[in-house]
Amino acid sequence: MTGLRGRTALVTGASRGLGRAIAQRLAADGASVVVHYGSNEAKAAETVAAITAAGGQAHAVRADLGKPDGVDKLFESIAAPLDIVVNNAAVFSPLFADTTPDDFDQVFAVNVKSPFFIIQRALPLMPDGSRIINVSSGVTWFAIPELAYAMTKGALNVLGRALANTLGDRQITVNTISPGITRSDMNDWLRDNPAAEQQVVGMVALGRVGEPEDIADAVSLVASGDARWITGEVIEVNGGLFLGPRKAAHH
Ligand SMILES: NC(=O)c1ccc[n+]([C@@H]2O[C@H](COP(=O)([O-])OP(=O)(O)OC[C@H]3O[C@@H](n4cnc5c(N)ncnc54)[C@H](OP(=O)(O)O)[C@@H]3O)[C@@H](O)[C@H]2O)c1
Repeated sequence: MTGLRGRTALVTGASRGLGRAIAQRLAADGASVVVHYGSNEAKAAETVAAITAAGGQAHAVRADLGKPDGVDKLFESIAAPLDIVVNNAAVFSPLFADTTPDDFDQVFAVNVKSPFFIIQRALPLMPDGSRIINVSSGVTWFAIPELAYAMTKGALNVLGRALANTLGDRQITVNTISPGITRSDMNDWLRDNPAAEQQVVGMVALGRVGEPEDIADAVSLVASGDARWITGEVIEVNGGLFLGPRKAAHH
């Protein structure tokens, strides 16, 4: 695939997990990728190395998005044109009862405030027809006890819809990719835990845990030229999560 050749993409939180897979996929599509990370320099270097080994273009940029100067740091080395922004970096929160005001501020700073100001800073660098893609979560429509995290993702869904309407006159699309249960460090309860994995299989129509590449391929779809008429959408990418009890339709 070379559909994104000549484009530049910023992927936040691309040192690990879904962000790494998204960065690799957009690079394979031809984009030059800014691999953002928070603190894990070695992992970010692995992402860049994987991309360059496959013939793609990437460089890493460090910025702690929990800090007040995080967005400024990120943009120190980003120049126009920036064609694709993927707000993927996020942190999980403690359970409701254990969440302190500082925890609350931190999860909102990384998951909501940073994407908001990253987009504000990016827009003057983005040509008409560019793409903004925010990574949300299914926890906006199924309940989990880590309420602060879930609330941040609800805020992102609202941001995407409102922003899509605002940016339409520039032909910039804004879409929200909403993963289900996907293998990554954030889901360490799945690691070496076949019983938990079987439980997930029972909830998913397509019968398996999601892989980072499942999400990356969906990001690639909305980043592509063919997605020019799709905007303001929250796209659930979860293999059919919680569609109902799983029973075969045949014997
Ligand atoms: N995994 C799932 O099942 C799932 C489901 C629904 C939605 N999601 C969403 O998918 C996205 C990626 O999740 P993931 O599972 O891949 O997470 P992950 O494996 O925990 O990776 C998180 C990424 O965010 C970066 N990050 C964390 N704190 C940061 C900070 N303070 N400043 C800057 N960067 C920071 C990390 O950078 P460092 O490596 O430098 O720490 C890392 O690159 C998130 O938006 C998440 O909410 C995931």
